[in-house]
Amino acid sequence: MTNSTSLRTHSCGQLGAAHVGSRVTLAGWVARRREHGDKLAFLDVRDFSGVMQCVIDDGTDARSEWVVQVTGTVTARPAGTVNANLSTGEVELTDCTVVVLNAAEPPPFPIDQRADEVDENIRLKFRYLDVRRERMQRNLRLRASVNSAIRTAMEGQGFVEVETPLLMPSTPEGAREFLVPSRKEPGSFYALPQSPQLWKQLLMVAGVDRYYQIARCLRDEDLRADRQYEFTQLDAEMSFVTKDDVLAAISRAVLAAAHAATGETPPPIEQITWHDAMNRFGTDKPDMRFAMELVELTDAFVGTAFKAFASAPSIKGIRVDAATYPEAAAIGRNKLDQLTERAKQLGAKGLVWIKVGDAGALESPVAKFLSDAEKSSLVAALGATSGDLLLLVADEWSTTCAVLGQLRNDLARPPVHEGPYRYVWVVDFPLFIGINPTTKKPQPGHHPFCHPHPDDLVKMESDPLHVRALAYDLVLNGWELGSGSIRIHEPELQRRVFQLLGIDDETADRKFGFFLQPFRYGAPPHGGFAFGIDRLVAILAGEENIREVIAFPKTQSGLDPMTNAPGPVDVGQLNELGLRTLPRPAN
Ligand code: AMO
Ligand code: AMP
Repeated sequence: MTNSTSLRTHSCGQLGAAHVGSRVTLAGWVARRREHGDKLAFLDVRDFSGVMQCVIDDGTDARSEWVVQVTGTVTARPAGTVNANLSTGEVELTDCTVVVLNAAEPPPFPIDQRADEVDENIRLKFRYLDVRRERMQRNLRLRASVNSAIRTAMEGQGFVEVETPLLMPSTPEGAREFLVPSRKEPGSFYALPQSPQLWKQLLMVAGVDRYYQIARCLRDEDLRADRQYEFTQLDAEMSFVTKDDVLAAISRAVLAAAHAATGETPPPIEQITWHDAMNRFGTDKPDMRFAMELVELTDAFVGTAFKAFASAPSIKGIRVDAATYPEAAAIGRNKLDQLTERAKQLGAKGLVWIKVGDAGALESPVAKFLSDAEKSSLVAALGATSGDLLLLVADEWSTTCAVLGQLRNDLARPPVHEGPYRYVWVVDFPLFIGINPTTKKPQPGHHPFCHPHPDDLVKMESDPLHVRALAYDLVLNGWELGSGSIRIHEPELQRRVFQLLGIDDETADRKFGFFLQPFRYGAPPHGGFAFGIDRLVAILAGEENIREVIAFPKTQSGLDPMTNAPGPVDVGQLNELGLRTLPRPAN
């Protein structure tokens, strides 16, 4: 790739020992100026590609962040002054002439300062300076190469890119929507899409067969490290497929993206059922980078004399070993009390801790209540050895999973962006996640359009909570990257699911009519998936917050300190829209 333009012959980072002797012209910003005696100065000139040291003696007064054009000769640096940390560290420009293209005010923070030393509000207020940093330049370029790899992978599989509307009706599901008032229909509103879900299913009815889009989505949710109001999905939908076809197609795109970002192709993505994920890791977002799996111990305590365990439907334990948690052996009473408190906060009635001492002796306040047989079966089941700490919870299965799953993460989960990268498909999510206490009806796990698992259709009415859905998530290092499902395309089955949810035909028509009506005109069997590109790129870029891979993100409180959005608008504009604002509530 040539980086030459009318104003430069090369980009800064392009130059190295191979160019020694060439006369070149660079253009960029002054990263640093160091005086060196009388008239001599070093100017580090930065552009998107790197930094070049220029030795100048022409008295130019260019200072930090001035825009300059430097013509000089690429020269090997004198022995002892080579900078191994810099890609251009073997060379410098000498015999330079400098043209100032633009002067600059001193920046509000030094551009080469580490980002975490600058206040987030200041970084975002001056985002255009923040993005001059090497880290942001690298992240944005990495993101672009991920997008490009995704497009190539999708198009190679016959997916057609289709753009879908941003202005759509408000739909009663999912997160809170952003609304857009209509001028032509005062008092009426569009909603911005939380995802192109509706449209992509209609495209299947329309015979598009394989759709994809790198789609902007908008959700009015509380922001966190993995959430912004605006984010980007790889969104896809396919006709005449089963779950395995969707997983295969999306896996190809994800692996291509990973390869583009890291140069390595991860191994084929393994699958785990939702039930196994809960049972073994206590969460539907299992972080498979470390062991410490949950072990079912219920059988070891049948007929136990220990009251807390006697009537529990499930008893589970984890083995905190020295390999994953080096402090395990030395852990003190204080920390154990904290763990017990944490377990209770998470919904447990208590927490049994057992330290495995030298020669396998078990140390625990409850050791005296456990029989020798119970002790040896629990040690065997957990594979416990000297120095381990064992944590046990007795409760409903869902509680033992959730509490120990969270303790496992609390104790040993590495930051999300630390390698290795462990992708996993979590499949067979339950169709319903529980019973709504008010309506006494089952609550859908995802949305009411997920196809139930065909093998479980017989128990839809009799045992709804054990019906699996053809719904799946992709998880990377404990973060949900994406989710999808095979959809219901049969009107009869859709009605049956609505009935279970307590939604009658009339309500279904009113709420979802525009979506359901097209399905009467020959909807093919179809399914799809969407994954968060911001999340994938953040992890692959080694970042813990998706903000670092978005050019212009919002702050944690949803504001843009650079443009001051959101802000008030003219009364005239409000009038035109038929809107009046209420005074801000005092808080
Ligand atoms: P879902 O709602 O699970 O599924 O979203 C898919 C993925 O989008 C990303 N994501 C976000 N990323 C950043 N900020 C947010 N606020 C945010 N919200 C979601 C996540 C998430 O896994 N239409 C369905 C998919 C389908 O069924 O085909 C959907 O949107 O990575
Ligand atoms: P108790 O009988 O409530 O005094 O509890 C005795 C010990 O067992 C305490 O250390 C509790 O934290 C623990 N414990 C009580 N209930 C449970 C439970 N359901 N699961 C695990 N540990 C428990």
